[in-house]
Amino acid sequence: MILVTGGTGLVGSHLLYHLTLRNDRVRAVYRTRDGLPNVRKVFSYYTKKGDEYFSKIDWHQADITDVPSMIPVFEGVSQVYHCAALISFDPSDYRKMRKVNIHGTAIMVNLSIDVGVKKFCYVSSIAALGGNSKKLVSDEDNQWSNSEKNHGYAITKHGGEIEVWRASQEGVDVVIVNPGVILGSGFWNSGTGKVFTKVHKGFSYYTKGVTGFVGVKDVVSAMIQLMNSPLKNERFVLVAEHKSFSEILNTIADEFGKKHPSKAVAAWVTEAFWRWEWFLFKLTSRKPRISKYSARSLHSKAYYSSEKIKNTLDFQFQKIRDVIKQVCNDY
Ligand SMILES: NC(=O)c1ccc[n+]([C@@H]2O[C@H](COP(=O)([O-])OP(=O)(O)OC[C@H]3O[C@@H](n4cnc5c(N)ncnc54)[C@H](OP(=O)(O)O)[C@@H]3O)[C@@H](O)[C@H]2O)c1
Repeated sequence: MILVTGGTGLVGSHLLYHLTLRNDRVRAVYRTRDGLPNVRKVFSYYTKKGDEYFSKIDWHQADITDVPSMIPVFEGVSQVYHCAALISFDPSDYRKMRKVNIHGTAIMVNLSIDVGVKKFCYVSSIAALGGNSKKLVSDEDNQWSNSEKNHGYAITKHGGEIEVWRASQEGVDVVIVNPGVILGSGFWNSGTGKVFTKVHKGFSYYTKGVTGFVGVKDVVSAMIQLMNSPLKNERFVLVAEHKSFSEILNTIADEFGKKHPSKAVAAWVTEAFWRWEWFLFKLTSRKPRISKYSARSLHSKAYYSSEKIKNTLDFQFQKIRDVIKQVCNDY
């Protein structure tokens, strides 16, 4: 039996489709039933038989931070794909992220060791490579260094990786993937899906920061290939291409037949805006619409190498323009 966490999220739902397509016996975790219709929707982007594939999943209601709810979930499990996480750049979510991303991963690891799971795949992030490397292009060999510049999400994904390396020391084979910003269909009101919604409504602003992007289908394909290979105890960066935020917004706008965002937002504006939002948060407790980290990442340029996965699996990434075309089509 294969166990998938985060099955009601972007990566997990696309992964579940590909696993059910392969006829794998799959169990997935959900916290509330509210997340399940999104998974059906994702399946419907692939096939008219989405409901048939969806019904192959053995759903269990559980929370990865709650050991008693997770014990029955692990019965008979031999492979684990751990996609569940809390993604936030809001500093006030740091404690919650530690609980889900580090403590929750520790629970996943402990139960995997207990039941003798054969292989464990952890979805980490390029954020966990550490942002302070002197190298211009980050890769799997980056060394994490503690610094005040590390943001909460990165710290907790790095903490999750440490728990997963512990599993490898305790006899569970592990693979870790470090994807860039993931683009994929579904979830139009959260994560990168929100960007498609905003551009569709007509979005005017852009920044010139650059980062690594990857399509969700490539992420799940790499995960499945790594899990079904003899490779173990290694991590792999998954970045298809580097793009500026303005290039991404323009490509989405082109696909939707909308105008390109035309108002460049200068760094000083986002710097002022996150401070204003922080001030309002202190005054009213309203969640900030932008954090210091998000404001800065909109203007920074970060580069990553995916040579390792390309050379090891002969892996070829889908072009980001083609990913965007497909996602806009599903939208
Ligand atoms: N999206 C990106 O651009 C990106 C880039 C790099 C790496 N990643 C990593 O990829 C993984 C998947 O990301 P995603 O984009 O699919 O995220 P997502 O759409 O936000 O989904 C997160 C999933 O985690 C589940 N989850 C959260 N807390 C949980 C808990 N305590 N117990 C059980 N399940 C819990 C959520 O369940 P509910 O439906 O109940 O909330 C949801 O299924 C994450 O590990 C993330 O760090 C994402």
